[in-house]
Amino acid sequence: MKGLYETHYQFPRQTGFRRGKVRDIYEIAHSYLLLITTDRISAYDVVLPETIPYKGQVLTGVSHFMFQTFQGEVPSAWIGTPDPNILLMRQVRIYPVEVIVRRCLVGYVWRLYRTGGRLISGVHLPDGLIENDLLPEPIITPTTKSVIGHDVEISEREIIESGLVPKPHWDKIREYALHLFKRGIEIAEKGGMLLCDAKYEFGEWEGTVVLADEVHTPDSARYLKLEGYHERQARQDPQIHLTKEYVREWLMRQGFQGQPNATPPPLDVEVIREARDRYIDVYQRLTGQPFQPRDYRTIEEEIYARGAAAAEAL
Ligand SMILES: Nc1ncnc2c1ncn2[C@@H]1O[C@H](COP(=O)(O)OP(=O)(O)O)[C@@H](O)[C@H]1O
Ligand SMILES: [Mg+2]
Repeated sequence: MKGLYETHYQFPRQTGFRRGKVRDIYEIAHSYLLLITTDRISAYDVVLPETIPYKGQVLTGVSHFMFQTFQGEVPSAWIGTPDPNILLMRQVRIYPVEVIVRRCLVGYVWRLYRTGGRLISGVHLPDGLIENDLLPEPIITPTTKSVIGHDVEISEREIIESGLVPKPHWDKIREYALHLFKRGIEIAEKGGMLLCDAKYEFGEWEGTVVLADEVHTPDSARYLKLEGYHERQARQDPQIHLTKEYVREWLMRQGFQGQPNATPPPLDVEVIREARDRYIDVYQRLTGQPFQPRDYRTIEEEIYARGAAAAEAL
């Protein structure tokens, strides 16, 4: 089945359009966004030619659930979800840093630790930890949002001193991010998962800090299967990733890690199926609701009709 890849719509009152790696961003009346999440998948900053069916619906559904759950806890740019693939948001000025919170020795932090790094974002780590071990407390490891190429680590002090984010705003961002992460851990545990790390984007709206983008989705967070986690760590067995990490690891085994000019190998049908099932599984674990796959025969008409109605009602 061909998923949502690059349909282009023209909505009433539309004032801009931009295509992100995974989302298509329609600006409405200069101040709102229809964020359409497609079935595109990116790995190592490369958009793959395949789609993962229902991925867009899963990501939209998870973000919807999180924005709704965190209402009254953290102010956000989210206004509503007019369609299973559309988030309606206020357009905000996104701060130029990705706010990453981690509590697990995986990915970047593991690579640092493995090569001898023990001081990570001001937290001193003991010797003797192995991949996927839990840190004594969550840490914030921000990166700059670079337009080309990969994001670069930046310390909280540098963010403030360079003026990328004013200090009072950064203080709020830090408080919100740590709160969301703590809540994310609880929500994941209810669904039998361990939240390893999460990436947040915040923006400025009428002088205040608000949460934007996607929240705790399987593209912006890493989840491990909680059942058997401690046993696997004790035996030093690999952990079970429930997110995009699965596709990243498969690509890496095929020799692709986003090397410049390298073409990603085509995803096997079974890999696509497995990825689809994992995305859906994470949706169900997080929301506690059965996933209701939408009908792909009418998806484009529905997206257009509902997006248009939402735009006209603003
Ligand atoms: N409320 C918002 N206001 C302005 N920009 C937003 C908002 N929410 C998300 N964005 C931006 O929309 C884009 C989402 O599309 P995505 O496919 O994730 O793009 P990218 O390739 O930049 O990651 C991101 O660039 C994100 O910063
Ligand atoms: Mg993004």
